[in-house]
Amino acid sequence: MKREERLRAIAAPLLAWYDENKRDLPWRGDRPDPYRVWVSEIMLQQTRVAAVMPYYRAWMEELPTVEALAAADEERLMKLWQGLGYYSRARNLQRAARMIMEKFGGRFPETYRDLLSLPGVGDYTAGAVASIAFGQAVPAVDGNVLRVAARVADIREDIMDPRVRASFRAMMEAAMPADRPGTFNQALMDLGAMVCLPNGAPECGRCPLAELCEANRLGIQSQLPVRRKKAARRVEELTVYLLVRRGRIALRRREDAGLLAGLWEFPHVSGILEDEEAGQPMADWGLTARTWRKRLAAKHIFTHVEWHMAGYLLEAEGEGPDFTWVDRAGLEALAVPSAFGKFLEEALRALGEEGGR
Ligand code: ADE
Repeated sequence: MKREERLRAIAAPLLAWYDENKRDLPWRGDRPDPYRVWVSEIMLQQTRVAAVMPYYRAWMEELPTVEALAAADEERLMKLWQGLGYYSRARNLQRAARMIMEKFGGRFPETYRDLLSLPGVGDYTAGAVASIAFGQAVPAVDGNVLRVAARVADIREDIMDPRVRASFRAMMEAAMPADRPGTFNQALMDLGAMVCLPNGAPECGRCPLAELCEANRLGIQSQLPVRRKKAARRVEELTVYLLVRRGRIALRRREDAGLLAGLWEFPHVSGILEDEEAGQPMADWGLTARTWRKRLAAKHIFTHVEWHMAGYLLEAEGEGPDFTWVDRAGLEALAVPSAFGKFLEEALRALGEEGGR
């Protein structure tokens, strides 16, 4: 059987399986709301369903409509996103919501083309919203779908290559049933997340496509899909300062562009400074160290960079160049990214103790 033929044969068994086994997710339903589908798809980029769920619920509680999102305070938005990572996703959601209010008169765009014009919406998300919320026959090819399709049809080309991805989209478009495109796309996602698992662990014994699957026949499931090696991550070293002064701690705001743009962070300098060097940045900031309390260490892995961090908890005197001094409640209200999670916990503990004294 040719690839295309094999993929066209999956719809019937896949949909039958989905009807019995689909996950009960809060953005699904008989008439899915485009706003809810869109927000869920953006949250689910790079993040697993289980991790997304509490964020999705809190978001919908506070921002149930495009209008509410367009009008939301940026600080609240960042707080609602805190811990999900890739914060530009939240900013793009709001930019897109404003565009929907202004350019589309508050009506959610319905065509794949109009959806693609929204900030933060690419092929995948436009396809997912068009198919799930508006019933259009557009594919939505994410990592799950690439894996299922590569295995079923024994496709050995590199899935990181944009031309190869485009050919997967074309094949999936030809394979989708005109009457249930959104269901078909979600069924592929669920199969990829629940059965056709990555890293050599597919559960072919439970798979509705096992008999059609060329990789299963050849016993090469664990070798597919093929993905060229990623470039190694760059390592950046930082020394982070938890500066406590009369029940408050110093924060500063990150620049408006780049990694973690506009979020709040503890002051830090580049390089890992040993105890004897750690006083220099304090002097540069015009601060005096009263008591050095603790040395900490942490690591955080982003997509392209790893941060290796040392940290110092200390009592300080002075203002600092562009620092904002916040108490415990202030710290809890601001969005400090998970990269600083270990330091944030330590800071909250330190301020808790202060408050109790
Ligand atoms: N992953 C990304 N989008 C999804 C969806 N709509 N359903 C299940 N898993 C997903």
